[in-house]
Order: sequence, then C-alpha cells, then structure tokens
Amino acid sequence: MRRPILAANWKMNLGRADEALEFVRRIRFPLSEIEGADRVVCPPFTVLAAVAEGLAPTPIAVGAQNMHFEDKGAHTGEISAAMLAGLCRYVILGHSERRAAGGALETDAAIQRKVKTALARDLTPIVCVGENLAQMEAGETHAWVSGQITSAFEGLSAVQVARCVIAYEPIWAIGTGRAATPVDANRVIALSIRASLAEGFGEEVAQAVRVQYGGSVTVDNIADFMAMPDIDGALVGGASLKPDYVDLVRRAVEAAGSH
Ligand code: 13P
Repeated sequence: MRRPILAANWKMNLGRADEALEFVRRIRFPLSEIEGADRVVCPPFTVLAAVAEGLAPTPIAVGAQNMHFEDKGAHTGEISAAMLAGLCRYVILGHSERRAAGGALETDAAIQRKVKTALARDLTPIVCVGENLAQMEAGETHAWVSGQITSAFEGLSAVQVARCVIAYEPIWAIGTGRAATPVDANRVIALSIRASLAEGFGEEVAQAVRVQYGGSVTVDNIADFMAMPDIDGALVGGASLKPDYVDLVRRAVEAAGSH
C-alpha cells in the first residue's frame, strides 16, 4: 500500500515573506489535520526558510523547486543539495518548465546527476517527466516518458529508486485547464513509468515508488485521479495557491481510501 502524497508547487508565486506566511497561516492547521497522506509545500527559494519555520510544528513537509547537482563552487545564483539539506525534505527535479528553458542544467544527464546528489543529501526527489503536445499527438508518449525515466534513474540502486517520488506531468496539461483523463494518466504511469522501473530495478521497486499526476489538477477533478490504482497523489500548481487547496487534499485522501 503506497501512502498518498500531495505536493503544492507554488512556482514563482508567493515569494515574499509576508504573502507566503499569510497563506501558510491560513492553510497549516486544516491541512495538518488531514491524515492519511504526505503533504508537501514547495515555495520559492526566497521564502523556503520562512515557510519551513512556519510549518515546523506541523506534519507538513517543505520542498524546493530545483537545485544544482554540485555541492558548492562558482555557480552564481544556484542552490545546492548541501544548502537545502536541513532546510527541507523534498526537491522537485526536472520540471518541464525548467527543461523547456533549456541549458546544460536541465538535460537528462544533468537531472540524473541531480537525483543522485539529492539522495546523497537525504532529500527526496520529486522527478518530473511528461510529453509535449506534439509528442502526444504523434503517439510518442510511451517512448518519451520511459526514456526520461530510464535516464533519470540510471546508475541508482533499487533501494535508492524506491525512495524517489515521480510526477507524471504531461506538458500540454500544465496550466491549461485541460487535464489528462484519469484513465490516460493511469495508463502512462502503469505502462511507461512503472513498467520501465520494473525493467530496470524489479517489480517490487516498480510497485513501491509513488507516482503523482500533475497538470490542471483541481478540487473538482482530484478524486477521479486518486481513484486510479497507479496514481498515488498529485503535484499541484495553480490550485495550490488558493485556500481551498485544503479541500483538494481532503478529497484526495478520501478518494485514495476508497480503492
Ligand atoms: P498546474 O496545476 O497549474 O497545471 O501546474 C501543474 C504543475 O506544473 C505542477 O508542477
């Protein structure tokens, strides 16, 4: 039985301490009371410490939205796993909004290095994968997503892979209001993500890893995703910035418990 995990990706929002803390104060008590799922909030770096402090007395964990694969050095503007360790427990890696911006720090090879570095520092990576619209329409989703999975986890042990979280986020569904259907998302997660993990690391690991869906998740559609057997949670963007995010998490837990 995989424990559900709901993560809020604030992206480049609520990055000032006053606005971030005001929001945290609104959600932290009701969100704390929803048991039966891991709850993670991923704010911008500018407020990571403040949000971590605001959530410290609660079971809600904090995550970063990115990190560099080196521990330290001449990397102006970058943040390392060594800096994040002790400050937060999770780190989102390879988000498509970063991959799309391109550059040497978001290649498959770079993301593979980031996953290794994060694990070495006891951070839990939330590794994002997903196809774009043209790939989906060309029927290339399986090849693309399984390739991203194989690359991200190459060189890791089965035990290390089992510690990771994966977010399947079809790019065409992010911020568009056009979520994947739960059945389609479940199919990609089962046949492209878990099957690739099974091939590389064994069936036990493939069944142990938690896989989230992300892309236009709302309070109205979350239950349908959580009812799917291979979907263990969600990585939520826009809907995580609203106070009714608490209701979204509550519905997710209720729906997860029903299958
Ligand atoms: P939206 O929920 O705003 O579509 O964003 C999804 C996402 O990219 C989460 O990482």
